[in-house]
Amino acid sequence: MKTYLVTGGAGFIGANFVKYMLKTYSDIRIVVLDALTYAGNLATIETDIDSERCLFVKGDICDRVLSEQLFAAYHFTYVVNFAAESHVDRSIENPQLFLITNILGTQNLLDAARKDWVTGKDDKGYPTWRADVRFHQVSTDEVYGSLGETGYFTETTPLDPRSPYSASKTSADLFVKAYHETYKMPVTVSRCSNNYGPFHFPEKLIPLIIKNIIEGRPLPVYGDGSNVRDWLYVEDHCKAIDMVINHGRTGEVYNIGGHNERRNIHIVKTVIRTMRELLAENPEYRKQLKKKEIGSDGQISIDWINDGLITFVTDRLGHDRRYAIDPAKINNELGWKPETDFETGIVKTVRWYLENQAWVEQIITGDYLNYYEQMYGG
Ligand code: NAD
Ligand code: TYD
Repeated sequence: MKTYLVTGGAGFIGANFVKYMLKTYSDIRIVVLDALTYAGNLATIETDIDSERCLFVKGDICDRVLSEQLFAAYHFTYVVNFAAESHVDRSIENPQLFLITNILGTQNLLDAARKDWVTGKDDKGYPTWRADVRFHQVSTDEVYGSLGETGYFTETTPLDPRSPYSASKTSADLFVKAYHETYKMPVTVSRCSNNYGPFHFPEKLIPLIIKNIIEGRPLPVYGDGSNVRDWLYVEDHCKAIDMVINHGRTGEVYNIGGHNERRNIHIVKTVIRTMRELLAENPEYRKQLKKKEIGSDGQISIDWINDGLITFVTDRLGHDRRYAIDPAKINNELGWKPETDFETGIVKTVRWYLENQAWVEQIITGDYLNYYEQMYGG
């Protein structure tokens, strides 16, 4: 049976990946390793952990002893490394934490895997490897830097990270590649665009806008809102990672994106419109709103949910202008393409948040409130 080590499996994409893999395959076992930082929430995968097909270990990917113990105990077939500090704004406040988790943590996992997976040496002195293993690094399109009005990131676009977050992710990618070149380690790297969907921590744009509407707060848009991101529904991303791990060529990088470029202001307006439509369609959802003004029809009013909530705030330092992925390689080699168009995905996402406010309430701890106050307060 294939055993996966999924790091960061209590975070947004990692948890969606755990659920997707358990749903798709009956003959795999997953060990989730997660430090449960502010972004990790065990409740997200609580129902998936069953001590047989899915096990949970609370721990840090930087912990060498723990990593080696886990490899010795489970002899993993695959490592899928999602664990990371993932928020650009936080990396601007505290760059060093990003170096520690994203770079040193990845290198620590690479070493633990190497220790367990190497079977001997070939006649040139290169390590030989267990035939069935693979280290997969989940990376980001942000390693390519920022685009102008035209063009796309391909796998050969020069690396040009511009934020402390993307610099740390780029370094981690290069370590993974270095282990492949130096030790012939079987690795793959995927670089995806902005994900959205269920279980997204509400410090990122889409869930933050949904949460602020529910709380009746202003909707902060950085700069003039014209920066562009290329949005990918999280389950489409999970499918792509599964394909890369199981069918991608070792040593290769695959870009994952959906040709779904939108300006931030367009995203915010789409969320406002979607929210209104869902609240109009199902008045039960209105009970989630913190602002309980009663309208002339005797129902909780949604008249105030409109573009007037948008507030333009100070721009992010070094704010990357535009990201856009060319996914031709993964499409041509592995036949992957995104299945969820943005209009469908955003309705699913907003609906999920309206139906899962308990999840949001649970993860908004003191840390989140302090962070929000520091970022947007005043
Ligand atoms: P997230 O912040 O929601 O989750 C990160 C998870 O990693 C959390 O569960 C956290 O507890 C865990 N973690 C953090 N530090 C750890 C440590 N030292 N040891 C063990 N666990 C630790 O992040 P996400 O959005 O799910 O992103 C997952 C991966 O995908 C990251 O590597 C990120 O760089 C990459 N990525 C994300 C996006 C996106 O749009 N969210 C886009 C491109 C790439
Ligand atoms: P984010 O979700 O933080 O992802 P990333 O920085 O990794 O792309 O931000 C997406 C875009 O939305 C980015 O251009 C910054 C912008 N943004 C806002 O305008 N307001 C906000 O409150 C946040 C969190 C982001």
